[in-house]
Amino acid sequence: MSNNSIYILAIESSCDDTSASVFHNDVPLSNVIANQSIHESYGGVVPELASRAHQKNIVPVVDQALKQANISKEQLSAIAFTKGPGLLGSLLVGGSFAKSMAMALDIPLIEVHHMQAHILSHFIKDPAQKTPEFPFLALTISGGHTQIVKVTNFFEMEIIGKTLDDAVGEAFDKCGKMLGLGYPAGPIVDKLAQEGNPKAFTFSKPKVKGLDFSFSGLKTAVLYFLQREKQKDPNFVDKNRNDICASFQKTVVDILMDKLKLAVKETGINRVAIGGGVSANSGIRQALLKAEQHLGWESYIPKFEYCLDNAAMIGIVGYHKYLEHNFADFKTVSKARYQMQ
Ligand code: KG4
Ligand code: ZN
Repeated sequence: MSNNSIYILAIESSCDDTSASVFHNDVPLSNVIANQSIHESYGGVVPELASRAHQKNIVPVVDQALKQANISKEQLSAIAFTKGPGLLGSLLVGGSFAKSMAMALDIPLIEVHHMQAHILSHFIKDPAQKTPEFPFLALTISGGHTQIVKVTNFFEMEIIGKTLDDAVGEAFDKCGKMLGLGYPAGPIVDKLAQEGNPKAFTFSKPKVKGLDFSFSGLKTAVLYFLQREKQKDPNFVDKNRNDICASFQKTVVDILMDKLKLAVKETGINRVAIGGGVSANSGIRQALLKAEQHLGWESYIPKFEYCLDNAAMIGIVGYHKYLEHNFADFKTVSKARYQMQ
């Protein structure tokens, strides 16, 4: 098949979203995402339930992705899937499905690293987003990761900073839980923060050397702060929820921006991209736009649809791996913990 008519089916199933996307070269023709609302009542993702929901969703989601793209499965050039990291039971559903389908169609299988895909989501051809030139810095912020990555080309990435404990999305979710918000709390904290005063309360920032992060201290600081205030006024949270969200979010954004500024200074690279679920956050998006105006950075913010877990980001990596004939062995196994390099 010539390199100008590659069709790739991509599958993402690392956590609690079942997603399938069809690509024509670097252009997404569909990006279907089925969320699993079942976890909301448990206040977090229940792995066992997530794998079952993936198994239920995967066939209709893939079917819909092909239909929306107006492509028959016989036209596919390859199938890309998330190998890891993530919940093993969830990964196995997408991985086994991808293997079986690739085997049945006798086409190559392409394995994709979930966090690499969040970074490369900037290369999805979409009129609503711009693409960075290499090298650039990527801040990957999600429910499981917080990293600063130096990206030299599509497949050469070096992690130059990471969290020593909780991921930033986890901090949002745990703090939101303390405020009685649903799961995942990140987007709700963000929404309430926009109605609150970010200067109402002060939470101290952790002192971590170099480009690494820490969020567990902030989580504990919020917990003790709430306990103290609730002793004085049992209705403290109800009266101040928006201000607490705004102050917490400002602290998190300041922590992220301080480290990014240091990374720009140390590497001399001022092209900065964000990726992962927390890159949907309005605070970090605004801070990056401001940095573009005031610090001369080139900021790259993915389209909202490509921030949260989705198969389009798997498809773009699939396309670039296809060009290099970087195919997986059918003996490949899904990996809950999977190093980027
Ligand atoms: O990348 P993602 O969809 O899944 C993982 O790979 O973890 O990220 C999910 C995380 C959750 O912690 C969620 O609360 C957070 O991203 N998140 C947000 C926002 N939207 C999603 N956090 C803060 N503000 C948001 N707007
Ligand atoms: Zn993710």
